[in-house]
Amino acid sequence: MHTRRSNGQAPVNEIVEEAPDAPRRWRRWILRAGLALLVLFGLIQLIPFGHASNPPVTRAAVWPSRGGQTLAEGACYDCHSNLTKRWWATKVAPISWLAQNDVDGGRPQLNFSRWDTPQPALERVIEVVRSGSMPPLQYKLVHSNARLSAGERTQLVDALTQLYFSDPPAALRGDGG
Ligand code: HEC
Repeated sequence: MHTRRSNGQAPVNEIVEEAPDAPRRWRRWILRAGLALLVLFGLIQLIPFGHASNPPVTRAAVWPSRGGQTLAEGACYDCHSNLTKRWWATKVAPISWLAQNDVDGGRPQLNFSRWDTPQPALERVIEVVRSGSMPPLQYKLVHSNARLSAGERTQLVDALTQLYFSDPPAALRGDGG
């Protein structure tokens, strides 16, 4: 920097061209990158995927206990029923895509709103609750009521067992693995 500000007679070999401009260039670069991201963010909102509305409930599972139903609704229904609730962030891409992906993947496996169609065997459902593999991690991170305690897991397993006994699904699907 001093080379230019001194008496204007800077020796040729001391003139550094890059250094004084570098911070400004970085700032410009970051600004441009930010703008590009903002535009991209706006554009991806136009992609229709991720905004599917809930299909109709063809036959709702009738839970024998209110507590079990509440647990299931809080921890499972967003992906395993046609009563999916979407909070604001899941309406904004790219989170909406992830949410839609979960719903699209979950409903065919188990759907408490389509109790008139084949559902997995009780053992399968119990297993994923016991092991804690359901609800999935990314869901638990943002839904406190999906982080089931050991006691709640037991309560949900009991409720599921009663449900399969008192109001079994129309058919059981062969265990696909
Ligand atoms: C965030 C969405 C989401 C939530 C919440 C969720 N699931 Fe799932 N579930 C999925 C997806 C996606 C699949 C299919 C892919 C997989 O198996 O990982 C699945 C698969 C399953 C399966 C089939 C697994 C197998 O291997 O046969 C069962 C049973 C299941 N879920 C039960 C539950 C129960 C019970 C709850 C609540 C305690 C729950 N899920 C909560 C998304 C979810």
